[in-house]
Amino acid sequence: MLDFQRIHRPYQEELSAALERVMHSGQYIGGPESAAFEADLSNYLGAQTIGVANGTDALQVALMALGIGPGDEVIVPAFTYAASAEVIGLLGARAVWCDVDEGTFNLAIDQLSTLHTPQTKAIIVVHLYGRCADVAAVEQALPGVAIVEDTAQAFGAQWTSGPYAGQYAGTVGALGTFSFFPTKSLGGMGDGGAISSRKSDLLARAKRIASHGQSKKYHHQCIGVNSRLDPMQAAVLGVKLKYFNQSIESKKRLASMYLDALSGVDGLILPDIVDGHILHQFTIRILDGKREGLQAFLKEHGIDSMVYYPMGLHQQEAYKHWTPKVSLQVSERLSHEVLSLPIYEAMETEEVKLVVDTIKAFLS
Ligand SMILES: Cc1ncc(COP(=O)(O)O)c(C=O)c1O
Repeated sequence: MLDFQRIHRPYQEELSAALERVMHSGQYIGGPESAAFEADLSNYLGAQTIGVANGTDALQVALMALGIGPGDEVIVPAFTYAASAEVIGLLGARAVWCDVDEGTFNLAIDQLSTLHTPQTKAIIVVHLYGRCADVAAVEQALPGVAIVEDTAQAFGAQWTSGPYAGQYAGTVGALGTFSFFPTKSLGGMGDGGAISSRKSDLLARAKRIASHGQSKKYHHQCIGVNSRLDPMQAAVLGVKLKYFNQSIESKKRLASMYLDALSGVDGLILPDIVDGHILHQFTIRILDGKREGLQAFLKEHGIDSMVYYPMGLHQQEAYKHWTPKVSLQVSERLSHEVLSLPIYEAMETEEVKLVVDTIKAFLS
């Protein structure tokens, strides 16, 4: 799906220099590299941001900062990565499943008022595949409910219309969370994550929680966790952030090639790529039960593809105790239809053509 050597080649020397700088600094926890990257991130996003160890911790710490615990309900889409729901269970709260919209792959807004109860304390709004979910509509449907934006898949995505036009995903809810897992659009060379907020008191609480509940060394004010962004990752991410916008532009070009070449092909549905989408994934839907066959055919021709995700989270063994309150039929259907195709900044035009030709050969 991704070739890191090719991705890193244009700035390989800068990456090596950054890693060497950390090695020779002797500062392996926190320190200037982590602080510098946090400043760069805050600057890019236009909102204060702190580094943490990964995107799952970012979600857990965000919920802890909001005081989520036993007896609380947190609404979350059934069609997302497990981490979005797992953290709710870790804190002893209940995940309340929401279906997704088949056009956007994001939360089905029309179900939210049905799911809203006096116990609803928060909603995890996932910006899936790199497309901004409609946070303004969530706010209208759930007044007073805290919004955590799970921006693991959408760093750099922007709204281009509505009240948040021009803002970045992850900066308009109570808290936004990010993952810098290597395959993410802004990916490190290991785990990494961040939390953003425009509410300085909330972000200060999150920062304290991520540091064992202390704001002063050895003075612990609340129960916290140990979640730090490693300076090696911060140094790598600082370099990659400089090339981030360029990488998104390349992916947009590749996506429009896919869209042009696949439009009108029977048996598949193409994604609706709106402005502001960062193309973390280019996910098509294969109809008539042919997805597995196509994936195997692509594999035989040396082409990787991925299924994000093969079942709704409500169908997973670990989460079955959270019985759905509404129909999750779109999540269930998508889990049988979606297929993410390779898309990354160093991919060649010829490779897109090969993927397209192979898909067409299978479906004809
Ligand atoms: C939607 C979503 N949320 C959370 C995470 C968790 O991020 P991490 O792997 O950095 O813990 C991921 C990572 O795949 C994700 O896709």
